[in-house]
Amino acid sequence: MSLSFNYQQSGPKRIREALAERQQNGRLRSLKQLHLDIDFSSNDYLGLSRSAWMQQSISNKLPHLSLGSTGSRLLNGNSPLAESLESKLANFFHSEAALLFNSGFDANLGLLSTVIRPGDLVFLDEAIHASMHKGLKLSGATLVSFRHNDIEDLKLKAVLHKTAGEIWLVAESYYSMDGDQAPLTLLAEIAEQHGWRLIIDEAHAVGCFGELGKGLGHPLRLDNRIFATVVTFGKALGTHGACILCTSHTKEYLINYCKAFIYTTALPAHSLTSIEAALAFLERFPKAQSRLQDNIRYFKEQTTGLQEILGTGPVFGWMIKGEQAVRSMAAIIQSGGIDVRPIVAPTVPKGLERLRISLHSFNTHQEIDLLLGYIKSKDPFITELWQKHL
Ligand SMILES: Cc1ncc(COP(=O)(O)O)c(C=O)c1O
Repeated sequence: MSLSFNYQQSGPKRIREALAERQQNGRLRSLKQLHLDIDFSSNDYLGLSRSAWMQQSISNKLPHLSLGSTGSRLLNGNSPLAESLESKLANFFHSEAALLFNSGFDANLGLLSTVIRPGDLVFLDEAIHASMHKGLKLSGATLVSFRHNDIEDLKLKAVLHKTAGEIWLVAESYYSMDGDQAPLTLLAEIAEQHGWRLIIDEAHAVGCFGELGKGLGHPLRLDNRIFATVVTFGKALGTHGACILCTSHTKEYLINYCKAFIYTTALPAHSLTSIEAALAFLERFPKAQSRLQDNIRYFKEQTTGLQEILGTGPVFGWMIKGEQAVRSMAAIIQSGGIDVRPIVAPTVPKGLERLRISLHSFNTHQEIDLLLGYIKSKDPFITELWQKHL
C-alpha cells in the first residue's frame, strides 16, 4: 500500500527528469507574486483592469446576474447576453459575425485545429504565439514557417511549397515579444495574389491601435480581406476571454465542429458584462489610447539611438544577453519598485533574452524617467550586463 502511494507521488520518470533538467539549467518556472508600485510588465495597456469606471459599470449589474453559465453554449450556457455581446462585437469590429471563446488560447487552438485540415499548407510567421503553434500542430496540415515579418522569405517559401489543398497564411498583427507590427497590407496582398486565406491574431493590438482601438487589421476587415481575426479581452481590455471575427458561415462551422467551443462551459454573465463594459469604455474614452500613444512617443524619443532597445511600442525589449544577466537586471530594477520581467528561452530563442517593457496609458513620464535611469545608467555593473549584447 505504502509502496503504491510513493510510486504515485513520485510520478513518471520522464516528468521528474524534465523538471530536474529545467532546475539544472536554471529555467525552472514557478509562480510568483510581485506587488510592485510601477507597472511596466502587465498587458493592461489602457488600465481597464483598474478603472473605477469599469468597476462601477460592472458592479451595478452584478446583483442581477447568475453566477455561472451552467453549461456549454450548445446546452444551457447560451443566453441573450452572450448573443447580444457577439452582435456588439461584430458591429464594433466591422465583422459579419463574432463567436465568443473562454480565452485567446482556446480561440487560437480551436480555430486553427478546426478550419485547417490535413492536406492543407500553412505559411506561418516564426514568431506567432504558442497557442497558434499548438492549434496548427493539431490541424495535421503541412507547416512552413517564414522568418519573422520577412516578406521576401515568405515569397521564397511560397515558390518551394505547393499543395492541392487549401493554403493559409497565419500571423499576428502586433508581436508582444519583439514589440513590432506585421506588414499586414503586404500579407493581405500576397494572400490575395495566391488565393490563400489570411488568419490574424490581434491579441496585443486591440485597444492599442486603430480607430477606437479596433486593431491594426481593422481596415483590412472593412474590405473583407481577412478570413478570421482573433481578438482577446485579457490584455488592453482588462478582463478575459476572446472572440473570433469571421463570416456567419465560418461561425456556423465552428459552432458545429470546433471542440474548444463545443465541449466547454460558456463564459458566465459577469465575464460577458465585463467585456461589454470594456467595449463601452473604448467607445467612450478614446483619450486612454492617446495617453498610451503619448507615452510610447516619449519613451521612443528618450531611447533614440540606443541599439539595445527593440520594438515600436507599447512593448519594447531591452536586449540583455544571457539568462543570468537578464534575471539579475530584472531583480535590480524590481528592487527599485518597478515591475519588469525577464524573458528567456524557450519563450524567445536562446541568445535573444530581454527585459520586456510594456507601457500603459497610466504610466507617468516620471515613472518612465525612473526606468530610463536604469537603461541609461553609467553604473559599470549595469552597463556590463547589457553591453555583452552589442
Ligand atoms: C498573441 C497572443 N495570442 C493569444 C494569447 C492567449 O490569450 P489569452 O491570454 O486570452 O488566453 C496570447 C497571450 O499571451 C497572446 O500573446
